[in-house]
Amino acid sequence: MSSKHQSPQVKFYSGEEIPLELHKVRIVQKLNLVPIERRLEALNEGGFNTFQLTTLDVFLDMLTDSGTNAMSDNQLSAMMQADDAYAGSQSFIRLQKAVLDVLNTKYLLPVHQGRAAENILGVAYVKKTSLVPMNYHFTTAMAHITENGGRIAELLYPEAYVINSDHPFKGNMNIEALDEIIKRTGKEHIPYVRMEASTNLIGGQPFSIQNLRDVRAICDKYEIRLVLDASLVGENAYLVKQREEEFKDKSMAEILHTMTGLADLVYFSARKLSSSRGGGICTNNLKIYHELEALVPLYEGFTTYGGISTREIEAMAVGLYETLDETMISQSPSFIKYLVNESKKKGIPMITPAGVLGAHVDAMDFCSHIPQTEYPAGALAAAFFLVSGVRGMERGSVSNQRDEEGNETYADMELLRLAVPRRVFTLSQISYVIDRLSWLYDNRELIGGLKFTYEPPVLRFFMGKLAPTSDWPQKLMAKFRKDFGNSL
Ligand code: F0G
Repeated sequence: MSSKHQSPQVKFYSGEEIPLELHKVRIVQKLNLVPIERRLEALNEGGFNTFQLTTLDVFLDMLTDSGTNAMSDNQLSAMMQADDAYAGSQSFIRLQKAVLDVLNTKYLLPVHQGRAAENILGVAYVKKTSLVPMNYHFTTAMAHITENGGRIAELLYPEAYVINSDHPFKGNMNIEALDEIIKRTGKEHIPYVRMEASTNLIGGQPFSIQNLRDVRAICDKYEIRLVLDASLVGENAYLVKQREEEFKDKSMAEILHTMTGLADLVYFSARKLSSSRGGGICTNNLKIYHELEALVPLYEGFTTYGGISTREIEAMAVGLYETLDETMISQSPSFIKYLVNESKKKGIPMITPAGVLGAHVDAMDFCSHIPQTEYPAGALAAAFFLVSGVRGMERGSVSNQRDEEGNETYADMELLRLAVPRRVFTLSQISYVIDRLSWLYDNRELIGGLKFTYEPPVLRFFMGKLAPTSDWPQKLMAKFRKDFGNSL
């Protein structure tokens, strides 16, 4: 018999480790798999930037899990009961209750998405002299700090940058470095320390609760606020249960409460956390709540909707409860693990251990012949779309921002991220991804570099346009036709 909070698991007679869907598909959406010739046209139209493609040309959309996780029947039906009111909506009261039950925080400020919370934190707390230490930056989190004149310091341990590793918690904050930087900078210049659950840009890698406790102890020592970016906290909590001995028999709720209980302020993107839209800032500290409260009506909307439709607020409340269900929260990580492990078997360089939100291909190794000045991860994202119709996201130097003098800053890692949103793709679709990735790996010498033709000043990866440095896309297409004949 299983103990009370043991993780549910299904073993196969064959011994194979196959992620099994513990849900059924009841609503479907037809996909388009257009020929490679059209995909090349689409890339040219979109400046070789996968953000600039439209879904008519995309087969499997692995750009992100943000706002693309499948919703449940219970979420959709809850949306029908939305209580539309500018102030005092019952939908918001239900959300407050869900936040209290799932995250164990009393005060909630709703915002339209995660970066809106980052904007409010930046405006309220970041000054020209500020430094915000964090385990690692996320693009929008960093942009809102630098837009307000502040700087960031990334304090991971060296093991976080090791591509092939079996370290269970690569997202851990370097505690000694944190203590040291606070001493050097002066605590008065540090408005908060930011911990990002399932550190996105290094491959969706979690931190341990022990590490969070150690960060808390340093924050207590210097009386600095601890902010938890909980956008991916559900999966981080799930991996804590899998990988941190102390928590293996705890419930998801107990683990989440332990994590949020160590932070002064928790914010999240509901596009990720609760498979809905929206976001939130939550705290048990009334002083913090009052410091931020007035900014919500200014930037977002009244404090009982914060720019989110009441339908989405209902979906958010139900989605929050669903993060406690391991058969749901394990779904994306188990598919990612399968994708990573099967790709590794074919020699494809992947970040290990498999993390959350997506599988991450090491473009620096995959495209070792492309210099960082020609954006290997951007080139790989474009090449992979060309040969498969699968849209991934560049997470490398294109996603980096220039320094104060306008110089390029090259990313620590050049990654192609293939997001696996919750409950969206089937195993044969994942097999197709592995198959096309493996073909591209065998033909990797045909991939060439990219250069910017249009570069916006802020968050350039969204709207920027690039062009290939040679006619490599045509050559890659010709090889595809040679090997695959008239296959789509
Ligand atoms: N924090 C983290 C860790 C995130 O991953 C994101 C978004 C945000 C904050 C911002 O939230 O999009 O609702 O404004 N990540 C998405 C991604 C965009 O594709 O990884 P948002």
